[in-house]
Amino acid sequence: MRAVLLTLVFLAGLGLAGAAAVVTFGLYNVSAQAGHLPGVSWLLHTTFRNSVALRAPSMEDAPPLDDPDLIALGAGHYATACAFCHAAPGEARAATAAAMVPAPPPIEEAVAQWEPNELHWIVENGVKMTGMPGWPVEERGDEVWAVVAYLVAIQNGQAPKLPEASEGVAYCRTCHEAIAGPVPRLDILSATYIEDQLGLYATGVRPSGIMAQAVSVVEREDFAGLARELAASTTAPTARAIAGDGAAGERLAKQGTRDVPACTACHNGEAGKGPVLHGQSEAYLAQHLKLWREGTYQHNAKMLAAARDLSDAEIAALAAWFASLNSEE
Ligand code: HEC
Ligand code: HEC
Ligand code: HEC
Repeated sequence: MRAVLLTLVFLAGLGLAGAAAVVTFGLYNVSAQAGHLPGVSWLLHTTFRNSVALRAPSMEDAPPLDDPDLIALGAGHYATACAFCHAAPGEARAATAAAMVPAPPPIEEAVAQWEPNELHWIVENGVKMTGMPGWPVEERGDEVWAVVAYLVAIQNGQAPKLPEASEGVAYCRTCHEAIAGPVPRLDILSATYIEDQLGLYATGVRPSGIMAQAVSVVEREDFAGLARELAASTTAPTARAIAGDGAAGERLAKQGTRDVPACTACHNGEAGKGPVLHGQSEAYLAQHLKLWREGTYQHNAKMLAAARDLSDAEIAALAAWFASLNSEE
């Protein structure tokens, strides 16, 4: 018995020494050109597949994935955040991206085998040790659904074309003046407010993966100029029909309740008090009031307090009323 134990200890020691030698003397070849040893790719991919299946979120929180505005937003994000590795549908990958190990599959192949909730998990979390990045900020699984909507449209062969590459304010307009629903209008906002928000997105104080990506492809010195041009713009996407009950929203917004302050005390167009909400997108307002209520957004203490006690029904009514107003009022 003692001899068996000693032999086991000796073998374990030999194994550790071997591993230490591989690490210390650089014996393992990390060359991407050498690829993986036979069987390793299979092992890694099976681990990946089962790990995703175990952790994918429930579809209960998903917005309708066939919403054309959501798909267009996902396409806009994909164009600058994903296409340089996975290419646009139907196009070839850059030779250097295709030489990665593992290589990013062309996007039609990448989406083929996954359910929408699994795609959500992959895009939010990324895949360790592969080069597949996670979402740039935490706690914003809500905005990952836009990318999932676009990926599902690819699966169905119904993906819209990606927006043409553009620069400066033209780039911002590909989303803000073309897409309604989840994308806010900027033409109703002041240049100062827009510039402040760009700073908050760039530092992550206002967490959004979509806007973090967008501000990272323009220069910081250009924020003020972009803000001025966008605030002076007269183009907004075609508004959708209002879904909620605006009348209940008007009372609440103007008078408040015991728990909720009157919104119009601050959101009345006066400089420095709060952004104009008149004519803003209903879907965007509802989504963002929830982000404040849940504390995902915390970048203004007064607004955080104002949203804390809102119910779902109050949020729907407020969003409907503000969205129904003429932005000139
Ligand atoms: C730097 C390159 C890179 C970028 C940028 C990138 N990916 Fe990937 N992606 C990869 C690699 C590499 C894999 C392969 C992982 C594997 O097969 O183990 C991958 C895997 C995937 C998969 C799973 C495919 C499969 O079955 O293996 C999906 C879906 C995906 N990416 C979507 C996206 C989306 C959407 C974006 C943008 C938000 C994106 N990727 C950005 C490199 C990238
Ligand atoms: C891919 C689409 C897309 C692009 C491109 C884009 N945006 Fe955005 N933008 C969004 C979305 C979605 C939001 C909401 C983000 C959030 O959850 O806070 C947003 C929010 C904003 C806000 C906050 C508005 C508010 O009411 O508080 C500003 C300001 C803004 N974007 C400016 C810009 C500027 C400037 C550019 C160009 C550099 C730009 N955006 C490019 C999609 C986009
Ligand atoms: C005490 C002042 C105050 C009150 C009351 C207030 N807000 Fe705000 N709100 C603000 C400020 C300030 C901001 C801008 C924060 C920033 O700098 O980004 C804001 C931001 C917002 C935004 C923008 C969020 C975005 O993501 O684009 C919405 C929507 C909003 N408020 C809705 C409301 C509603 C609805 C009410 C009433 C229930 C309300 N607010 C009450 C001050 C207030």
